[in-house]
Amino acid sequence: MKNIILDCDPGHDDAINIIIAAAKSDAFNILGITTVGGNVEVEKNTLNALKVLELLKSDIPVYKGQSRPLVRKIEIATEIHGESGMDGPVLPEPTRKEEKMHGVDFIIEAVKNSKDKVTLVPTGPLTNIAMALIKEPSIKENIEEIVLMGGGTFGNWTPAAEFNIFVDAEAAEVVFTSGIPLAVFGLDVTHQVIATDDIVQRVGKIDNEIATFVKELLIFFGQTYKDFFGINGGPIHDACTCMYLLNPNMFTMEDVNVTIETKGESTYGMTVVDLLKKTGKKENARFATGVDQDVFWNTFIDILTSFDS
Ligand code: BDR
Ligand code: CA
Repeated sequence: MKNIILDCDPGHDDAINIIIAAAKSDAFNILGITTVGGNVEVEKNTLNALKVLELLKSDIPVYKGQSRPLVRKIEIATEIHGESGMDGPVLPEPTRKEEKMHGVDFIIEAVKNSKDKVTLVPTGPLTNIAMALIKEPSIKENIEEIVLMGGGTFGNWTPAAEFNIFVDAEAAEVVFTSGIPLAVFGLDVTHQVIATDDIVQRVGKIDNEIATFVKELLIFFGQTYKDFFGINGGPIHDACTCMYLLNPNMFTMEDVNVTIETKGESTYGMTVVDLLKKTGKKENARFATGVDQDVFWNTFIDILTSFDS
């Protein structure tokens, strides 16, 4: 059983990752969910997290975190996720609110007080994680690993940069230079798990309300990916993190050095991934390059089927 904190900006694929983690209560002890400004403003991302938990009938606490990046102005992605950040399905207003404690303080307290080490699972900009490490560096000792979605050898927000890293590259630099073990799921692997029509149909055949919600998420997300990127289906980027924690063997990982570009005029937010070991710099990340798609989607369908109808 792994102690995890999901740090996210739901977000269609963040919502799916929450569902995967919540479904696997034998594998994950979710200490809490922290939210960050990213796909949309942090208030909306927080509301979305609460809505998903309400649908799941889960009482996992939610803590609102940073509203803006460490240095730059916030950049949001309504083109992809809609005005609400989770457009498509309509969920009722949640009956509970986020906790009073700030997300960054929750991360610090939860990691400090945990008897066993904690795995952090960020699927949005890395602002909360960086802030926690800056405010209380001693928490490093009790972090088992940071399993994150971000980066890649190509970009989706600029030609060079992936959205999560682009939004707060200074925060990403703090995380990638922290010395904490990192497992990195960037676009190279997340674009191998695209929810094409056949996947949406498989989800549509499952008779429970969580699967129906996921189907509606995938339909909206697939359409914006088609409109914005010309791709036939939405890559469920963030789900790679919890899928990896459930079964690392389905992924191909390479130990590499990843440097975050924070100065480049055209390359701000790029993850410079030294796959061919050209720099001689020390490896600081396990970087995902491949995934067994059959295992991934079969696991995904099994998880959705496990909910009561
Ligand atoms: C990442 O950006 C967001 O739009 C998604 O939720 C994912 O975390 C993909 O670049
Ligand atoms: Ca996300």
